[in-house]
Amino acid sequence: MSNDAPLPTPSSPRHAWVFGGSGQIGERVLDRLLARGVEVTAWSRQPQAPRPGLTWRAGGLSEAGTLPAGVEAVFSCGPLDHFARWFAGQSGAPARVVAFGSTSVEVKADSADAGERDVARRLAEAEATLFAAAAARGTAATVLRPTLVYGAGRDATLSVIAAMARRHGRFVLPRSAAGLRQPVHVDDLADAALAAWTSPATYQHAYAVGGGEVLSYDQMVARVLQALAPPATLHRVPTPLFTGMLRIAHAAGRLRGLNAEALRRMRADLVFDLAPARRDFGYAPRGFAPGAAEVGA
Ligand SMILES: NC(=O)c1ccc[n+]([C@@H]2O[C@H](COP(=O)([O-])OP(=O)(O)OC[C@H]3O[C@@H](n4cnc5c(N)ncnc54)[C@H](OP(=O)(O)O)[C@@H]3O)[C@@H](O)[C@H]2O)c1
Repeated sequence: MSNDAPLPTPSSPRHAWVFGGSGQIGERVLDRLLARGVEVTAWSRQPQAPRPGLTWRAGGLSEAGTLPAGVEAVFSCGPLDHFARWFAGQSGAPARVVAFGSTSVEVKADSADAGERDVARRLAEAEATLFAAAAARGTAATVLRPTLVYGAGRDATLSVIAAMARRHGRFVLPRSAAGLRQPVHVDDLADAALAAWTSPATYQHAYAVGGGEVLSYDQMVARVLQALAPPATLHRVPTPLFTGMLRIAHAAGRLRGLNAEALRRMRADLVFDLAPARRDFGYAPRGFAPGAAEVGA
C-alpha cells in the first residue's frame, strides 16, 4: 500500500479509542496505553470495570457513533470487518489507526471450505476499505496480521488443546501434523501495536506478526503438553486412524470445529516473513516456551 497524501509525524496522543479492549490482545494494548499516560476510551458490549485513565463505553461498533475531535489514535483489537465499516463511515479523521487483521487473509483464501474462503474475503475487503478510507482522509493506518495467538490462556487453539489434554492426561495427533507454525504471544502483539503506532515506516502498510520461533505443529502441541502439571502425553497415530476417531467424535457430538480442512492444514506450513515488521518497527517476538497459565492451565 502506498499513499501520496501527507501523513502526520508520530506523537503521543492525549486520547485514544480502543475497540476490542476486553479481548486477549486488546487488554494488553490497554495496559500499555495506560502505562504511557494515554487517556483511553474503550468500547465493550459487556460491563467492564473502570481503571484510572480508562473510560469504558457500553456497546459495539454500531453504538460507537461519531469519533469526537481530539481523539488522536484508534486501536482496533476486535473484528476488522466491523471496524473498517465503522471507520469508513466516519467524517472526522484521527491521525493514527492501528488495527489487527489476521494471516487468515492469506491462509484461508484458497481453502476448500466455503466458510473459510469467506473469512479470507471479508478480511481482504476490510483491509482494502480501511486503507482506502485512511488514504482519503490523511489518516495513517497500519494493519497487523497475527498468526496463531496464545499467552492469555483464553485462545481458541492451544488453550483448548491444553484443557483437553489436562482432562484426559493425553492428546492425540495424526502423524501428518507436521506443518510449520509460528505461534505468537499476546504481549508481543500488544508491543507490536504500540511500536507500529509511533513508526512512520508502518503508515499504510499491513504486516504479518508471527512468533519468534518456527516449529512443527506436533512440536508446538508437545510443548503445550509439557507445560501442564503433570505433563500430558502426546500420542501420534496413523492419519487414517485419526480421521476415523475424528468422525466418531463428531458423530457423538463430542467434538466441534476440527473439520477436514483444519486437518489438512495441520500438514501445511503456515510461516510468514517477519522481516518487514523487524525492519519497520523493531518487531522482536519471543520463542515458543509457554507456561501453564499462558495456555489456560
Ligand atoms: N486469536 C487468534 O488466534 C487470532 C489470530 C489472528 C488474528 N486475530 C485477530 O486479532 C484481533 C483480536 O483477537 P483476540 O483473539 O484478542 O480477540 P478476542 O479475545 O476474541 O476478543 C475480541 C474482542 O472484540 C470485541 N468484539 C467481538 N465481536 C464484536 C462485535 N461484533 N462488535 C464489537 N466488538 C466485538 C470483543 O468485545 P466485547 O465482547 O467486550 O464487546 C472483544 O474485546 C481480531 O481482529 C482477530 O481477528 C486473532
